[in-house]
Amino acid sequence: MSANALKNHEIPFAPCRSHHSNFWTDMGLNYYHILKRVRQARKLVIKGTTAAGSGHPGGSFSMAEIMGCMYSKFLRCDPKNPLWDGRDRLVLSKGHASPGLFSNLAVAGFFDRSEMESLRKLGSRLQGHPDFKCPGVEFCGGSLGLGLSFSIGLALAAKMDGKNHHIYTVIGDGESDEGQVWEAAMAGSKFRLDNLTVFLDRNFIQQDDYTERVMPLDEELLGDDISEMWKNAARWRVGDKWRAFGWNVLEIDGHRIEQISKVVNSVLQTKGTPSIIIARTIKGKSVEHMEDNPKWHGVAPSPTISPIIELEIDCQFLIAPSIIAGDMSNLENEVKRASHGRSDFIHLDVMDGQFVPNRTFDHEKIRQLRPITTIPFDTHLMINEPVKHVRDYIEAGSDIITVHAEVCDESSFGEIRDILRSNETSLGLAINPETEIPTWAEKFIPDLDQLIIMSVVPGKSGQKYIESTHEKTQRISKFLQERNFQGLIEADGGVDLSNVESCFLDGARVFVGGSAIIGQKDVRLVISEFRKRLMHARRKLLITKAHSLGGADLVTKWIDLHEVGKKKSELVQIAKESGFL
Ligand code: DX5
Ligand code: ZN
Repeated sequence: MSANALKNHEIPFAPCRSHHSNFWTDMGLNYYHILKRVRQARKLVIKGTTAAGSGHPGGSFSMAEIMGCMYSKFLRCDPKNPLWDGRDRLVLSKGHASPGLFSNLAVAGFFDRSEMESLRKLGSRLQGHPDFKCPGVEFCGGSLGLGLSFSIGLALAAKMDGKNHHIYTVIGDGESDEGQVWEAAMAGSKFRLDNLTVFLDRNFIQQDDYTERVMPLDEELLGDDISEMWKNAARWRVGDKWRAFGWNVLEIDGHRIEQISKVVNSVLQTKGTPSIIIARTIKGKSVEHMEDNPKWHGVAPSPTISPIIELEIDCQFLIAPSIIAGDMSNLENEVKRASHGRSDFIHLDVMDGQFVPNRTFDHEKIRQLRPITTIPFDTHLMINEPVKHVRDYIEAGSDIITVHAEVCDESSFGEIRDILRSNETSLGLAINPETEIPTWAEKFIPDLDQLIIMSVVPGKSGQKYIESTHEKTQRISKFLQERNFQGLIEADGGVDLSNVESCFLDGARVFVGGSAIIGQKDVRLVISEFRKRLMHARRKLLITKAHSLGGADLVTKWIDLHEVGKKKSELVQIAKESGFL
């Protein structure tokens, strides 16, 4: 299958086609490919529900990464031939989250993205609940509790017919109040349906309230701070229920692409039992005022607020600790510290003693580190002639590979792009403090997943941030936006708690931290501090946006939506500091 076909999803997916050698799979993670599609799908959900004036954004967003992984990576399907007999089937049992399904179908190419604006309109193929008239829909969900029984029928039929397609079913936790779910659970294990995998979108919220107040699946939660209490994994019991029914049960963070990917690869190897993936999710994930708020189960955003939400979806950020700032004789431990700290990436600085004077490690070390964590490896190659070496770094388990503009030209970078793409590895370009984006690189901008703007002269960690990088990043960020850049800018070098907010406001969205993260004693604490600062910067940006669209009235209207916890008072404070209230 050609790289272009993969991108456009024009022909059926052929599994196991790459030579990537991650320890859990022989496929690449394709991290940015999925990330971008998840973002596009979320924006389509906002478009559709806003145009309809109704719909269910909350449950569409809690399952957004799951759906994105399935449609971008795992489902064998053919958008141009939706009824192809050999296709895998994805049954959305929690049918009210139909915008979350339709948006993924649109992104995958089953129909035009503009059709999302017809959501819930008379005569549209996209209704409030999935219907067969929409290409790609496998089940007319609506009445809850039925999708799993239907899926069991599909899985049994496939077995009887000797077919090898897989059935995936997405159920909700509120939906699990229905007795039929548990009857189906018994049948699934009785018939040993190993061609069936269920995702439980465990967002802890149903139509009217928190699930644990309506009908506890885990433990009854009493007290005021419910949305905090269920974050404690020690209280989760629902997996045990499914285990008791004889299912293969796996528990993950349902917003982590790498965990979803790993677990799906694992269930595809499981024989003799059906599997259920309990995905811990956040209702309304990625839009702060919707997150964890039962009100957003089934309410559409208002047209004045939607542009702010779209910006918020575009402003997600990632933290990438650089392990060379730690103990070089025990990098295994540095990876563990980063992963315990819940970093988004592990940033791996490869130096060859030629492109930069220092030497760090090479692909052999990366291969040894790979089994320690599923967190994506963000490999930054500070080496000469990268085109000669990228295959080694793919095979060692890198998920993102960034090469330096100073040692590439149009031809070698084009070759690197093709090698990475055909191995489902994400593509990065890095520029030194003295370097601008070369003219030859401009044609690659729409393909770039990541642009590293160095804010120190590469070569070692612990240097001071070069102040002029702020201006440079702002300028480049604008330049990229005008050229259909879909990736993220990564700030690398001297980023710390004092400047990370400015880096965000410049336009960076991935933040490398060497001495400021790995160099610190408590990595977990410092990463959470980074996140707090970034959140503060994002709120500032969104308030500014609201003000530019509708003055103080819109700022107040938007802030008022933030009902859970202390969000509202914190936002009022920021708005006042910024002079908008
Ligand atoms: C510099 C590297 C950076 C660096 C980060 O050559 O690319 O990733 O090690 O470390 P700090 O954050 O300490 O500058
Ligand atoms: Zn780096």
